[in-house]
Formats: sequence, C-alpha cells, structure tokens
Amino acid sequence: MEKGENIALEFNEFSKNYTDDMIGCVPHYLELVSSFVKYLPDNFKPISILDLGCGNGNITAQLIPYFPNATFTLVDASAEMIELCRNQFSGYEINYSNMYFKDFIFDAESYDLIVAGFSLHHCHNIEKQSIFKDINSALKKDGIFSYSDLMISKTNPGHPMLLEDWNQFVNISFPDGEKWTWIMEHYEAFDKPTDYQLQIEWLKNAGFSNIQTPFKKDYWVYLQAVK
Ligand SMILES: C[S@@+](CC[C@H](N)C(=O)[O-])C[C@H]1O[C@@H](n2cnc3c(N)ncnc32)[C@H](O)[C@@H]1O
Repeated sequence: MEKGENIALEFNEFSKNYTDDMIGCVPHYLELVSSFVKYLPDNFKPISILDLGCGNGNITAQLIPYFPNATFTLVDASAEMIELCRNQFSGYEINYSNMYFKDFIFDAESYDLIVAGFSLHHCHNIEKQSIFKDINSALKKDGIFSYSDLMISKTNPGHPMLLEDWNQFVNISFPDGEKWTWIMEHYEAFDKPTDYQLQIEWLKNAGFSNIQTPFKKDYWVYLQAVK
C-alpha cells in the first residue's frame, strides 16, 4: 500500500473526536470554517455543491442552512467520516462518494460551488495542479471554488517560525505535549502544504480569475476563486 493510501485509515481514527481536536489543533479553525459562508457574494445562490474531503461534514454543515435546496456531493476517502456525514445529514439530498480524489469523476460544468476544507494539503504538488484543473472544468460558468488550508511549503524560510507558533497554540489546549507529538507525526506522514502564492499561480493556469484570500492569518488561509 502506498503511504498516501493510509489517509483513509488515519482519518477513520481521527474521526472519533474530530471537531474538538481540530479546534484545539488548528489555529483559526472556526473562523476558517465560517469563511465558507461569510465571504460568498450576497447574490450567489448555488444549487449544486461539491465538498472535496468533507470529513465529518463541518463545511457542508455551514452551507446547508443557507442553501437548503441545493444538491450536495460529498467526497472523502475515509468511510468513517462519510458515515458521520450520513448520520448528520439524513434529511437532505446528498450524494456520497467514499473514494480518493484521483478516482472521483469530475463531470464538466456540473457544480456552482466547489469547497475544500483542509483536505488538499494531503495532495502532492502534481496532484494539486491536476485537481485545480478538474475543479475548474467541473464548475459551471461563474462558479466559485472555495478553499481553506495551511498554505506554506515545508521548505519556505518562514516554516520553522510557523511550527513554533503552531506548537504554542496547541499547548494552550493540550499542555502535556502529547498532542503536539501526534500532530507532528501526522504532519510528517500525510501533510504536503504548498505556498499560497504558488497555488494562486496554479489556479490562474487552471483557468480561474478573481482569486482572493479574504481571510489570511499567517499561513492559515481561506481562498476564493471564480471560474
Ligand atoms: C482535515 S480533514 C478536513 C475535513 C473537513 N473538510 C474540515 O474542513 O474540517 C481532511 C479530510 O480529507 C480527506 N482526504 C484527504 N486526502 C484525500 C484524498 N486524496 N481523497 C479523498 N479524501 C481525502 C480525509 O479523509 C479527511 O476526512
């Protein structure tokens, strides 16, 4: 099994206490999650929404009250995460795809809004560029790609400072250091973040215009791009 194939198993395990762990482990997590609604244009009314790496559904849960009649498609490699979504969203029209992004078929011009919350940093650079092209093709005209993540490469000169600040943040909620050790093991094995400047270039190459980062604290970024 490839190293990356273990993402599904890693997130099956992570699903058990997911939201509390994210709040304590990811700086600005709740602000970044609420950004998925806060920064959409007022007149934007998507009827077809794709959530890439839905996890336990925190991003879709933000969107549903605003767009209750939209059709949602949720993709995630982790069966346990998909199960959490099925339980949470039982009353809504949702299509589930329990698979890796590389196996998902991005039908052309199918979605008004595509969201990805903290999921694309698991993809290496080549896959990110390919996914950006798939996302652009799968959006309808004027559709929006909306994306939050840690956006700094591990070779960026600012990366050591990012780790120091991040460690301090995690120690507030988990002072015994065990959680930080676990985060760093997960980060080493599964996380491949990329500088936001480079991703903006790739998004332009994929055909996006009007690319903005309305929320950005250090390298914790919410980005929006229009097809
Ligand atoms: C950190 S969680 C984010 C969940 C949620 N979107 C949020 O913002 O809290 C990342 C999710 O992406 C999924 N994931 C990561 N890489 C993936 C891939 N290549 N294909 C499908 N799902 C993937 C994981 O299984 C996990 O549930």
